[in-house]
Formats: sequence, structure tokens, C-alpha cells
Amino acid sequence: MTTTMNLKTKTILVVGGAVGIGQATALLCAERGAHVIVADFNEAEGKATAQQAGGTFVRVDVTDEASVVALCASIAESHGKLDALVQTAGILKGAYVALEDFELATLRQVVDVNTIGSFLCAKYALPLLKKGQKPAIILISSPAAYGVSSSYAYAMSKGGVSALGTTMAGKLAPEGVRVNVVFPGGINTFMKRSVIEEDAARKGQDPQAAVDAAAQSGLGEPIGVARVLAFLVSDEADYVRGSVSTR
Ligand SMILES: NC(=O)c1ccc[n+]([C@@H]2O[C@H](COP(=O)([O-])OP(=O)(O)OC[C@H]3O[C@@H](n4cnc5c(N)ncnc54)[C@H](O)[C@@H]3O)[C@@H](O)[C@H]2O)c1
Repeated sequence: MTTTMNLKTKTILVVGGAVGIGQATALLCAERGAHVIVADFNEAEGKATAQQAGGTFVRVDVTDEASVVALCASIAESHGKLDALVQTAGILKGAYVALEDFELATLRQVVDVNTIGSFLCAKYALPLLKKGQKPAIILISSPAAYGVSSSYAYAMSKGGVSALGTTMAGKLAPEGVRVNVVFPGGINTFMKRSVIEEDAARKGQDPQAAVDAAAQSGLGEPIGVARVLAFLVSDEADYVRGSVSTR
């Protein structure tokens, strides 16, 4: 490929790259020539994805500051720079739980992964990104942040991701770091299927039939979002600022 969509010179960190949207993104970026570092706490599938991408795997728990520091220190040693951070690690807990019954521990767990995890990854990857070429940070929010979530915790956590990302976009632009916050629609991954199954089960319906019906009626596939993310980390996306929604 001769266009700038070619990612040949790029070293890209995909956090949460073991499965789902992160996995599809890691594989597509590798296909376009990037060296991909897959970081996840799911070691088995993370290693498999990294191997398929011809890249490297580093175990990380994004809720643990020391673990994120160690991840970035290992990249500093092996590569000395990063051209992009794509932070896709996320969880959804507490779907369909009423506010009166919502456990604070569940809220903290979800915010810890989705919001604090995004903050820690961005914070510690930034010095490496500043050494990269046209560096980009991509955080993944969700339309769930705007009143359509099954979970109070998930909605709140993704609202935080949006606020973090848009604030970083403004503050880091003068330093040459481009930040985008991406809002995927319903995408056929472990996370989405689990929520659909839970909803069907509580309504006394067949969970598998519900997943099949959702897949038929418009659930997107991870590769569709991956194509957007692979574009956003490319130099061709140089003029894209702020929030981007996908199917
Ligand atoms: N699937 C959808 O419909 C949808 C819609 C909007 C936004 N999103 C967001 O997209 C992102 C990817 O979601 P997905 O649907 O691919 O989910 P997924 O469950 O398929 O993948 C999530 C990945 O994050 C990793 N992860 C979770 N907790 C971690 C931790 N503490 N440390 C390191 N890794 C951790 C998991 O191991 C997994 O590899 C998430 O941020 C999610 O909230 C998904």
C-alpha cells in the first residue's frame, strides 16, 4: 500500500487487545505493517493475538498503576517510543440492576477498569508517544454515556472516559499529540453478547436466540470498528479531532 494508511513505521500499543474490538484492531494494524504490542490481562488469548499479529504481548492489569508503569517501562526498553495508544480494555457489570440495589463495589470496579484504566494508560504512555511520529491516543467511550446504558456504572465510567479524552485532546494538541474518543454502537463481542444474554434470561427468553436475533438485526462486527481505529492511528487521520461515532 502506498498511501499513508500504510502503518509500516508505526509502533502501536493496543491495550485490551486479546479479544473483541481490540483484537480486531491489533490484527488489522499489523496487516497494514505496524509493529503491534498487545497488552491485556487475558494472557492466553492476548499471546495468541500477538502471535497472529507478529507482535509482542505484555500482561497488564489497567487498574493496577504498577502494572501499567511496568508495561510502559518494558516498551521504553524494547522500542524507545510509541506512535499510538489504542485503549480498548473495558468491562460492563451491573446491567439491569436498579439504582437502589446497585453495589458500590460494582461501581468502583467498572470505573476502575474503564476510566481509571484509561487515565493510567494515557498518563504512562505519553512520554513514549512524545517520542513517536505524529502520535495518537484513542480512548473508547460508548453511547452508553448518554442515557442508553443497561448499567449505571458502565454509563458513569464511559462519561468519564469521554471527559478525559476530550480534555486530553485540547491539552495535548499543542504538544503534537492527537486524541480521539471513539463511540462504537452495538458490536458483536463477548461483552455485548453477555449483556444480551443476561437481558434475555431475566425476561425468561432463550439467551442464544436473543444473541442470534441481535446479530441479524444490526449488531456490528469488531472489524468494522477496527477499520475506523486503524484509520485514526494513521497519518491520514491527521485532521480528525475529538469524538468519532461508529455503527
Ligand atoms: N461491544 C460493544 O457493543 C461496545 C460498544 C461501545 C463501546 N465498547 C467498548 O469497546 C471496548 C472493547 O470492548 P469489547 O466489546 O471488545 O469487549 P471484550 O470484552 O470483547 O474485550 C475487552 C478486553 O479488555 C480486557 N480487559 C478487561 N479488563 C482488563 C484489565 N483490568 N486490564 C487489562 N485488560 C482488561 C479483556 O481481557 C478483553 O480482552 C470497551 O472499552 C467497551 O466498553 C464496546
